[in-house]
Formats: sequence, structure tokens, C-alpha cells
Amino acid sequence: MKILGTYPKTRLRRVRNSDSIRRLVSENSLSIDDLILPIFISEGKNKIEKIKTMPGVNRYSLDKLDSIMTQVKKLNIPMVALFPQTPQNKKNIYASEALNENNLVCRAIRFIKKKYDVCVMCDVALDPYTIHGHDGILRKGKIDNDITLDILVKQSILQTSMGCDVIAPSDMMDGRIGKIRNALEKNNYKNTLIISYAVKYASNFYGPFRDAIGSKKNLKGDKKSYQMDYRNSNEALREVGLDIKEGADIVMVKPGMPYLDIIKSIKDNFKIPVFSYQVSGEFSLIMNGIKQKLIKEDAIIESLISLKRAGSSAIVTYFAIDVAKKLIK
Ligand code: PBG
Repeated sequence: MKILGTYPKTRLRRVRNSDSIRRLVSENSLSIDDLILPIFISEGKNKIEKIKTMPGVNRYSLDKLDSIMTQVKKLNIPMVALFPQTPQNKKNIYASEALNENNLVCRAIRFIKKKYDVCVMCDVALDPYTIHGHDGILRKGKIDNDITLDILVKQSILQTSMGCDVIAPSDMMDGRIGKIRNALEKNNYKNTLIISYAVKYASNFYGPFRDAIGSKKNLKGDKKSYQMDYRNSNEALREVGLDIKEGADIVMVKPGMPYLDIIKSIKDNFKIPVFSYQVSGEFSLIMNGIKQKLIKEDAIIESLISLKRAGSSAIVTYFAIDVAKKLIK
């Protein structure tokens, strides 16, 4: 790009000089239409539990879901993403609870879809259900791709049959999008959306989430044999290309802020909607920074706009409710 103009005819500060002109020339904006709220759910009754490592974020028993869903509805947040804290005694090496039609997620989908006109997105992955906290089935010390696929396909069909609108595989097994898409077509779920976590890095920023769903203590080793190496970016484009071919409607990049370059290059290379996930570690760092008065609260909007600027159409964020309240004013 050629830079035109010279000082003093050109003074870029002219377009920064008042709030009015800044609003008029702003290139990006954030709206409630861009927000997806993750919700943690748990067994039991009458429980709204604080998550220690995520200030201001709670886990809800199903009979308390109304307290957050009414806010989602009132603020017109378009989508929620459900994450279950599975009781330890329901976890095993087969992740069989993932296929129980009365598991937490299935009950939550039925409850929400009956009462609220809000899109529901569900993770497809086995980590809430495995005793070792991995996203797939362990065999001889390795996560077995193809055995895991069979379960993920069943999990996807089950969640769809409960009324889930958006299937979001976050497991990073190879070939899962194609298998899930075929199964959806075969079962006549032609309009079910697949948001593929095509680009999910083996990140250090997931710590607080693993506390929230109770998989942290269980997890042995790391997820580097299936989640992406954070040194790589070409590989991200290969992941996205394959997932589009296999039938993904939207792709997700996760985490968000450390991967702005990846979002941008996907947006430039494939004209597909890209979403990003501002993950638990990003959330907690910002929240703790604000609480300790190291940074101002406006850092929240700045972080979300950076994701928009990079090319995200929508953002999964634990700030969704707070930000929506601010945007409505
Ligand atoms: C796993 C999953 C993870 C998150 C969502 N789904 C983390 C992991 O790989 O352990 C992380 C989200 C967050 O940190 O907010 N399927």
C-alpha cells in the first residue's frame, strides 16, 4: 500500500480529535450480535457455585439455569455454549456418560430449547467424561483417533436429537468433521450447523476452564498429540481447508488473543465465517488485572475488538453478559 500525503497538509490527528469523529471513522465495532456466552452446568439442586479461578463466573445446577438464561434472553445474546461438570463417579475410560441421553448436557439442552428462543452450541469432545481428562479414548498410552471418532459421531447425533442447534467438535481428532457431517445427513439433520474448532492449540491458557469442569486434577500429561503446536501457522490453514471440505459451516480459532495472526490469515485465505474463543486463561488474566487495578476495565472491550479486527465474526467470551449490558446503554 502506498502511503499518500505529507505533513502538514495531512495530519492524522484530525480524525482523532473528538469523540464524534472517532466514532464516524472507526473501522470496527462490537455488538451484542457478536457474542456467545459459555455456561458451566453441574449436577444437584439449587446451586450457583463460584469458580475460584474465574472471578464472576459461576456453575449452575439446571434448576438455576433460568437465572442466567433470562439475562441472555433480555440482552438478546444470540447463542450459549454449554459445558458440563460431570461428577467424578460418572467418568470412566470409555467416556460412556457422553452417550447417556439423560446426562447433564442433554437435560440442559432440552430445558433451554423448550423455554428460550436462543441458539445452543455444544462441545463435541470427551474430556468432561473421561477419567483421565483427555478428549479421546486412550489406548496403549495414546489417544486413539479412530475409536474416538465413533463415539464423537454418536455424541453429535445425541446432542442434535436433544435439540442442539450447533455441534462444535473441539477434540482435534482427524476426520471428525466429515464423519459427523455424514451422520447428520443420514439422520436427516440437514440444518444442523457444525462450528469446527479447526484450529485449537495445545495452550497454557485453558487452566481455569479445566478447574471449572473438574478435569484438571484428572489430566495426566498434556494434549500435544492432538491439539496444535503453538509454533505453527501453515498447519492451521491445512486444518481449516480440510474441515471446510468435510462440511464445516464455520471455523473457530482457540485461544483468541495470542492467535490474532491465525484468525487474520484464515479470513484472508478462506472466505468462511471465523469465530474465536477468548478462553478462560485470557478471561482470568484480564479480570485479575482489573481487580488489582493494573489495567482499566475498558481492556475488556479492547481485547474483544482486537479479535473483531483480526477477522472474527463472533466471539465466545465469559464477558458476554457484562459487555452486552454495557453495549445496551
Ligand atoms: C476441551 C475444551 C477446552 C476448552 C473448551 N473445551 C480445554 C481443553 O482442551 O482442555 C477450553 C475453554 C477455556 O479455556 O475457556 N474439549
